[in-house]
Amino acid sequence: MHIGIFGAGSIGCFVGGRLQVAGETITLVGRDRLRGEIEEHGLIVSDFGERLTMSGGEVRYVTGPAALADCDAVLVCVKSAQTAEVAEQLDGIVGPDVVVASLQNGVRNPATLREALGSRPVVATIVEFNVVSKGEGVFQRGTDGGLIVEEVDGAGALIAALQRSGLGVKVTADIAPEQWTKLLVNLNNAVVALTDAPTPVLMSDGTLRRVIAAIIEEAAGVLEAAGIRVAKLRGLPVSWMPRILRLPDAIARLVLRAQMKADPDARSSMWEDLHRGRTTEVDFLNGEIVHLAEKHGLQAPVNAAIVRLIRDAEATGTGSPALTPTALAAALGITN
Ligand SMILES: NC(=O)c1ccc[n+]([C@@H]2O[C@H](COP(=O)([O-])OP(=O)(O)OC[C@H]3O[C@@H](n4cnc5c(N)ncnc54)[C@H](OP(=O)(O)O)[C@@H]3O)[C@@H](O)[C@H]2O)c1
Repeated sequence: MHIGIFGAGSIGCFVGGRLQVAGETITLVGRDRLRGEIEEHGLIVSDFGERLTMSGGEVRYVTGPAALADCDAVLVCVKSAQTAEVAEQLDGIVGPDVVVASLQNGVRNPATLREALGSRPVVATIVEFNVVSKGEGVFQRGTDGGLIVEEVDGAGALIAALQRSGLGVKVTADIAPEQWTKLLVNLNNAVVALTDAPTPVLMSDGTLRRVIAAIIEEAAGVLEAAGIRVAKLRGLPVSWMPRILRLPDAIARLVLRAQMKADPDARSSMWEDLHRGRTTEVDFLNGEIVHLAEKHGLQAPVNAAIVRLIRDAEATGTGSPALTPTALAAALGITN
């Protein structure tokens, strides 16, 4: 297949690189900064210590979307705020049978794409793992997990290509509950961004675990009140997450380590956004919970405070405010 990646940053370069290693023809569409980096160093996909290198010459990285006209499928990998804009561009470029997949977080992106793309198949796809752009062409997967892909008519060839990439693909016709569960997990992206703590520290620090428990508990309550179904997380009911997070340190670490493998320096893409002075996706994650709560006459004060803290950090433009766990808990009004 010829697969285009629209928004070739961390996820786009990693997934695109894996697809190219597996034999697909890939066109990456992104920004000048990464084009230059990949031209100089090549594209290096790093997967838990294993590095797969493609020489710069073999990788097609362009900065304009016109090249997507030749593609059989396009993976949309921009941040959520840019989806409407790229959907409109795609509509004017790709043919009527092209399959478009959203590899983005949040729950709104596939609908935004469908609205612009008419009868073309749009596939919601959940990326369970985390990828960080390490510089010098290296895109490193930092946690385990695979892809959850929506079963959609006309998307069989794309799904088969993703399966050949070895990324671990689960196909489901009922993706909405999986999207909401992923959103609950992504609520902790802001905690990484605000504290500058790598993901494994989040799991080992008792105060940060209690902060995350409060954020998720509040959000899960809002989803329940709104009648939204959620999927199990790695085989466990989502309602168990806050309870596990509040277990004593030694037991919680054991349980969480068994649940998730993470690189010592894995961090969320929201942290990377602050680090690079960009607007984050907080409105589509914690902000989605606040919005849903308001819609149902409820309140979500902890998630609302997270949104405010991230907005403040965006406004300063100096990266993570590096709050201590105690300072973050105090700012959110979490005392236990
Ligand atoms: N990184 C992760 O670990 C991870 C894991 C799971 C899911 N996700 C989700 O995947 C999506 C992408 O995340 P990411 O971390 O890969 O983001 P990213 O590194 O910022 O990559 C997106 C890239 O697309 C570029 N872009 C935006 N609009 C464009 C346009 N019109 N033409 C060309 N390039 C354009 C952006 O450039 P500018 O910044 O200059 O706009 C950026 O370089 C998000 O929804 C995220 O939540 C990420």
